[in-house]
Amino acid sequence: GSLPIVVVAPEHGSLNGVYEEDDDEDYLDQEIDAAFSDLEQSKADASLTLATAALPAGAAQHLRAALPSSIGLVRAVEEGRRGQLLLELEPVQFRRDVLGGIARQPDAFWRGALTEVAAGEPALVEFSSPNIAKPFHVGHLRSTVVGNFVCNVLAAVGPAPVRLNYLGDWGAQFGLLSAGCEAAGLDAETLGVDGISRLLEVYIDTCRRAETEPAVREASRRAFHRLETGDATERRRWAACRRLSLDNLRAAYQRLAVTFDAFDGESMYPASKCESVMARLHESGALAQRGGATVAVLEGGGEATLARADGSTVYLTRDLAAAEDRYRRFGRRRLLYVVDAGQAVHFANLRALLSQLGHDWAGGVQHVPFGLIRGMSTRRGEAVFMHDLLDEARERMLERQRASPNTAHLEDPEGTADVVGTSAVIIHDLRQRRQRSYDFSWEAALRPSGDGGVRLQYLHARLCSLERRCGVALNPEADAALLVEPEATALVAELARYEEALVASHDQLEPCKIVTYLFGLANTLGRALTRLPVKGAPRAEAEARLLAFHAGRLTLAQGMKVLGLRPLERM
Ligand code: ARG
Repeated sequence: GSLPIVVVAPEHGSLNGVYEEDDDEDYLDQEIDAAFSDLEQSKADASLTLATAALPAGAAQHLRAALPSSIGLVRAVEEGRRGQLLLELEPVQFRRDVLGGIARQPDAFWRGALTEVAAGEPALVEFSSPNIAKPFHVGHLRSTVVGNFVCNVLAAVGPAPVRLNYLGDWGAQFGLLSAGCEAAGLDAETLGVDGISRLLEVYIDTCRRAETEPAVREASRRAFHRLETGDATERRRWAACRRLSLDNLRAAYQRLAVTFDAFDGESMYPASKCESVMARLHESGALAQRGGATVAVLEGGGEATLARADGSTVYLTRDLAAAEDRYRRFGRRRLLYVVDAGQAVHFANLRALLSQLGHDWAGGVQHVPFGLIRGMSTRRGEAVFMHDLLDEARERMLERQRASPNTAHLEDPEGTADVVGTSAVIIHDLRQRRQRSYDFSWEAALRPSGDGGVRLQYLHARLCSLERRCGVALNPEADAALLVEPEATALVAELARYEEALVASHDQLEPCKIVTYLFGLANTLGRALTRLPVKGAPRAEAEARLLAFHAGRLTLAQGMKVLGLRPLERM
């Protein structure tokens, strides 16, 4: 049979119209969900009625059970005169529950709202993973920023993931670096903190010469081979280069407020550590020889090189050994790789070979790809290194601060400018759909009024300042019934939608869902700030408004933190 459901809002007429569908429970659930999100979007203030024309047995009870439990939205469920189900929503209670809930326990409130989401398999997220024969390159900005978001959003909804950095600290580039140091008479072990730029010069110079001089290429190849076979001198030189690079990296991660549980590297999987994988693939008949090189024959057709003629392993072989090692050490069956979309084939091969190796967790190997950033440049030229990019963001913010009369009071103008500039760069990146490539623009990134990180930070600081100066103390029991203005009810409805944005963002690993939500929230908060003064309002109203702004700030801060920003209290 079919069950028409009519959703009626007294002031808005029929919201959902009439549906002709099967009267099974899934259908009811879907309709209820749709009706509720319409109700919230309509920002309606009065009691609303959800009605079904013909009731299946037990529908009233089922409906009651299906209603969002964290939000006491329903005043009454009853049968109407023509046998419909009437559902009366309780907007005042709704406001109380949302505001009070957020104000008392923001994290717990949002977690409580997430009951329908499966907790999710605990994951290991590999991200950033720069190549370290050179300073931290902006090419790894997206992996760093998107990967940090992925970790944060997983942790906000379910179990916290292991945050892993897999340094590109092995491979032919270290042969070039070593041969270059040798030729230049450079002792990497005695270089100080600034040594990284000296190493870079040597590296660039050697790469250039290797293009035209076969002898340089040969020397580099031999140097890497010596390193892989355990030569002590090579090993010391390599370790010195790695240490210098790590110091440089750590400084950048600190500015970006990104942390890792472990710094692994490709160097952990030299040829000797890949022997077991190679032997098992050989036994399963998956290997073949091609002109001295060893390739894996993939089940779906196609081949992938695993070892060169001289026995040196390649990127894919190391990734096979690394995946097994990760599974062994951390026991996570979901392994995420936040790496640019250009490596899609590599990760498809990795997954296929892990499953050929018989690992039942191979299905949990997931590439989280992202597009390119085009045209990133600084005043000094093409932006190459992370610190140039972040320095420029800070400089530009400092210039703006100096030009503004309101920022003279700042205790730490440089530090503030650094956080705001970094926020701008991060949001400029995360507001794009992950898989899209985009053009970098300083103008768009730093615009104070547009949809950028600067605006989010301003708004957060403005709300903090309101709380400091309004002359009213925060009272989580303030009377939400006094919030009757459309700007106030709109704000509560918007706050209640954070859950939806968080879940969508989590399920699709798409940061832009939260970014878009936060700009909607910023608009709603902006309108409320203009229309609902706290200072000077009668005490009870002032308390209710303050509670609404406080809940707004906590939600804003929560979203910002998931995106990897540090919300500022003053700026
Ligand atoms: N270091 C590599 C690069 O810059 C990225 C590493 C990606 N992760 C991996 N497990 N292969 O291209």
